[in-house]
Amino acid sequence: MSRYIIRGGERLSGTVRISGAKNAVLPMLAAMLLTEKECVIRDTPRLRDVSVMIEILRKLGADVEERVDENTGSLSLMVNPLRIITHEVEENLTRAMRSSIFLMGSLLGRLGKVRVAYPGGCDIGPRPIDLHLRGLAALGADINEKFGYIHAEAKKLTGAEIHLDFPSVGATENIMMAAVLAEGTTVIRNAAKEPEIVDLQNFLNAMGANVKGAGMDIIRIEGTSGLGGCEHQVIPDRIETATFMIAGAITGGDIYLDNVIPEHVESVSAKLRESGVLVEEKTGKLHVACDRRPSAVDVKTLPYPGFPTDVQPQIMALMSVSEGTSVITETVFENRFKHADELRRMGANIKIEGRTAVVKGTRTLFGACVEATNLRSGAALVLGGLVAQGLTTVEGVEHIERGYEDFDQKLRSLGARIQKLTG
Ligand code: UD1
Repeated sequence: MSRYIIRGGERLSGTVRISGAKNAVLPMLAAMLLTEKECVIRDTPRLRDVSVMIEILRKLGADVEERVDENTGSLSLMVNPLRIITHEVEENLTRAMRSSIFLMGSLLGRLGKVRVAYPGGCDIGPRPIDLHLRGLAALGADINEKFGYIHAEAKKLTGAEIHLDFPSVGATENIMMAAVLAEGTTVIRNAAKEPEIVDLQNFLNAMGANVKGAGMDIIRIEGTSGLGGCEHQVIPDRIETATFMIAGAITGGDIYLDNVIPEHVESVSAKLRESGVLVEEKTGKLHVACDRRPSAVDVKTLPYPGFPTDVQPQIMALMSVSEGTSVITETVFENRFKHADELRRMGANIKIEGRTAVVKGTRTLFGACVEATNLRSGAALVLGGLVAQGLTTVEGVEHIERGYEDFDQKLRSLGARIQKLTG
């Protein structure tokens, strides 16, 4: 068990490089099973979730090699999935990471069958997979759910018209993966529009698939009979980008973020500007500076291009020390306010009513011992710690490491006083 010890009060300055996007890499690793040829993903973040997915691929029979670029230090993954020996995904690995559900689409496409353990609920509330299963069934998969396992089988996958009740990111990706090797045309309506979906489309097309429309409501996939290998550079992580933007703002700092796509964080930039933070694009970098106490702004999470639910905890940390009262509405997940209790321990004034949090900004937070119970909540507590008076201990660092590469080290490079203690 590890924890961060943070001494708050340092204004961050300098430049930090943003890593490749976790939520883009995970479906791509699953998609690599669709071919028998080697694929390479450049700029893979070194994260716990990525390690679990690599272990799953190896257990299925794929050959995975890691190569570090001598100049940039960035990691490339080379996956050769020629010899896939089983369609059964190990239960403890499935339960360790929800994204293993992506293997349903890719193994169905590759082997015509798959067996995975049912992913449980998680700390941000129930996370059903009905849209994934209905989509795969529409393509012809016969799905049985028994004793906590899902078994899906299809002699042949056939293109279909699928309308998603909600633009689910994971369901859109899973259906895209199954459809690329299906016979005929698949149309996904009310598809998710997140940048990671566009990156998956680009990756699949580089393998020889025919996918169009990602980033819009309707995605059209013409099935092909086989896919080849490819090399692909993953997009920068927009949630890590947003987290560092808020780190700059909350500490009254002046920082530059390298390896970013500013358009992907437009909704976050708009909210930060509205609250008085300077956010400007400078030759492939984002510059974030704040020389006064930010003003409270209201935030409502929505599917992309709306404000990301994955940045809601971090903006709540910022609103906790802003001037005025902010109303934060969470519309994507049912139970995503666990960080509010911990921020309160640091002196934040937050009231939760259903899916709405009313945050009355206070001048300062105070160091406390708090616990990260999930990835983004953990990031919010670190942000609180950066500005709190005195020492903050954030327990549960393993949750944060699921999604942030070298988080403490990157913050230290900007001048934060943060140490990781293990044991
Ligand atoms: C992905 C991201 C996660 C982010 C979320 C929303 C990855 C690996 N994870 O998760 O970081 O917080 O998008 O931007 O990319 N739903 C159903 N039935 C389903 C699927 C989803 O009801 O079959 C509901 C969920 O309960 C939730 C909403 O749809 O309320 C959004 O979920 P979804 O977009 O599927 O999120 P994930 O793909 O799980």
